[in-house]
Amino acid sequence: MTAIWSVDTAMFCENAKRVKQDNNIMAVVKNHAYHYGLEFAIEQFSKIGIDTFSTTSLKEAMCIRKLAPNATIFLMNAVYDFDLLREYRIQMTLPSLSFYYEHFNDLYDIAIHLEFENLLHRSGLKSIDEIKEVLQHHRQNQQSRKMHITGLWTHFGYADEFDVPDYQIERDAWIEIVDTLIADGYTFDMIHAQNSASYFRENSVLKHHTHARVGIALYGSRPYQSITEESIQQSLTVKGNVIQVREVNKGDYCGYSFAFEVIKDHTKLAVVDIGYGDGILKSRAKHEALINGKRYPIRALMMSHMFVEVDDGIHARDEVILYNKDIRVDEFTFKGVGANSEQLSAMNHHSLIKEYR
Ligand SMILES: Cc1ncc(COP(=O)(O)O)c(C=O)c1O
Repeated sequence: MTAIWSVDTAMFCENAKRVKQDNNIMAVVKNHAYHYGLEFAIEQFSKIGIDTFSTTSLKEAMCIRKLAPNATIFLMNAVYDFDLLREYRIQMTLPSLSFYYEHFNDLYDIAIHLEFENLLHRSGLKSIDEIKEVLQHHRQNQQSRKMHITGLWTHFGYADEFDVPDYQIERDAWIEIVDTLIADGYTFDMIHAQNSASYFRENSVLKHHTHARVGIALYGSRPYQSITEESIQQSLTVKGNVIQVREVNKGDYCGYSFAFEVIKDHTKLAVVDIGYGDGILKSRAKHEALINGKRYPIRALMMSHMFVEVDDGIHARDEVILYNKDIRVDEFTFKGVGANSEQLSAMNHHSLIKEYR
């Protein structure tokens, strides 16, 4: 018995199709496709008609090129390996005005997307003036081999926040930039801004935009709670097994460093073969696990084990489900365990058995 991380492939595709609908989606496949596996994700997304991918890592971008020879690949972090970008036909962000002036000659033949910094302040040109400065300088550049400005983009940092006005502020600032540039006669092959939360909030791809740049919804987790569970479905299961059930009594301490104090005689604890070493977050272990269709409280988390308080119905070799379609990653996101992607990224794919069904 070993703990298992498994994905229902048909359900993964079905969800991606449902999220995509008839829209153009740039699938975010960074961090090994949110840990679902880059090869797997590219294959499934390609099957349902997604041909545009983005990541933050050059290594992943090069891997995508091998997996999808005709795909459009967008690198969201700037790198300095300009020859590799050309060789692998990878489009890249322009992260700042200074990067432009330092490297516009090095960037010849590379497709570049102008990035607007907006409220996240992680990267990008700071204002419409900086964007226009690059566009005008580029237009006046007489070199025969120049970079190609093919895209315009930003990232919304507040699309999953509802109690503050910041999403509206960053959205309005961005739309004004897009509208102004279009009114001034600039054109772009690609304009993209929306992550999953913005894509669902807007119920579509924004005006003038060619793509929504979606990650977590394609992987089956809701970015915010008011989206129905039917709209975004989880294909991932993470489960361990009951190794044995032990009886403990009032006053016993179980787990390391007095982790759980027993308050009732004849308490039954299932010892389960999955722990933080497999990627179960400590915050997740404050909640329940699903055994034989019923939820039981996790009482202590160790590296390779956990204790779950159970009843007489639970026995050795019963499956203990930490995540599946009925006990979803996003449920725990909304309970404050950590972001969807944080829970997914924690999974240890070296210790868990990995299965695509
Ligand atoms: C720049 C950028 N775009 C898009 C996404 C996708 O976001 P989500 O997974 O919320 O759809 C991310 C994710 O962190 C990102 O960093």
